[in-house]
Amino acid sequence: MTLSMQIRRPDDWHLHLRDGDMLRAVLPATAAVMGRAMVMPNLRPPVVDTATAAAYRSRILAALPDGSDFQPFMACYLTDRTDPDDLAHGFESGVLKAVKLYPAGATTNSDSGVTNLDALSGVLERMADIGMPLLVHGEVTDPEVDLFDREARFLDTVLEPLLARHRKLRVVVEHATTSEAVDFVRAHADRVGCTLTPQHLLANRNHMLVGGIRPHFYCLPILKRARHQQALIQAATSGEANFFLGTDSAPHAKHLKETSCGCAGCYTAPAALELCAEAFERAGELQNLEAFASVNGPTFYGVPVNEDTVTLVREPWQVPAFAEVSGPAKGVVPFYAGETLQWRVANML
Ligand code: NCD
Ligand code: ZN
Ligand code: ZN
Repeated sequence: MTLSMQIRRPDDWHLHLRDGDMLRAVLPATAAVMGRAMVMPNLRPPVVDTATAAAYRSRILAALPDGSDFQPFMACYLTDRTDPDDLAHGFESGVLKAVKLYPAGATTNSDSGVTNLDALSGVLERMADIGMPLLVHGEVTDPEVDLFDREARFLDTVLEPLLARHRKLRVVVEHATTSEAVDFVRAHADRVGCTLTPQHLLANRNHMLVGGIRPHFYCLPILKRARHQQALIQAATSGEANFFLGTDSAPHAKHLKETSCGCAGCYTAPAALELCAEAFERAGELQNLEAFASVNGPTFYGVPVNEDTVTLVREPWQVPAFAEVSGPAKGVVPFYAGETLQWRVANML
């Protein structure tokens, strides 16, 4: 007998869709399963205001497969020049859902990021007033700080003081990778949420580096040691309301990953929910997959849960080895390409 399980349609609270040919190639995988997604603004040039976000949103809607009711939520890139009135207008008119903080230089396409957070107090106060959340790529960029310590250092030296200065500001620690991040979120549970990615639930740095270097496991914040992976699995599978799914699906052309200086980002969209099911089953907590993937995110953002459902069947299948992209990118290699997963989404659109 085939085992199956039905859960409310999930949402992806941290997603990179890119633009143009790449957008058209990757969007269907997400739209087939997810009801909604928080779309990251790190395009080149980035999505830094309401007008740019509205135009990007239209391009996403135009790239959707016929009949899809997938809904993109737009995050606006915080820069040293962000205008609080524009953010408030974008939020209140429904175009913008959140603001994204990239410390300058922290990750892919973050060179327009914030250089001095202190100068943005007015913007952050305004966001706190209107209830617009700040999503953070939480890593310091100080060259003196070891790459593996950058998240924990950010929480202590940047985010803790920021929360103390802005007592009403709501924050999401994006793609958390450490036990310190899990503790931090729990300590500020009244107003801090946390996205967790399938790759950080399924892998630690040994998976990336033992027996050969695997570029498709390379993302930022970088995979940490097993002890941290265990803390993330425990948080995700606990059912606790502050932890929810953000795939951080971040496609880069195959030739830009498999090279001497490869890009950071894992393309998880083709198997995002199935990868999570794998992690939850291994933890013996499949019953909490729905809270993590479909309930906790909407609750944090104050939107209704999706009315419809998806069915997962326990039927081994292989993650595709390659996803074609027209134009010069040619194609992307999904995370876990060619690997066998135990759970499969049955009712794809
Ligand atoms: C993301 C990307 O490629 O846009 N890469 C990544 O390694 N996670 C950027 C980000 O989310 O930091
Ligand atoms: Zn990031
Ligand atoms: Zn990301």
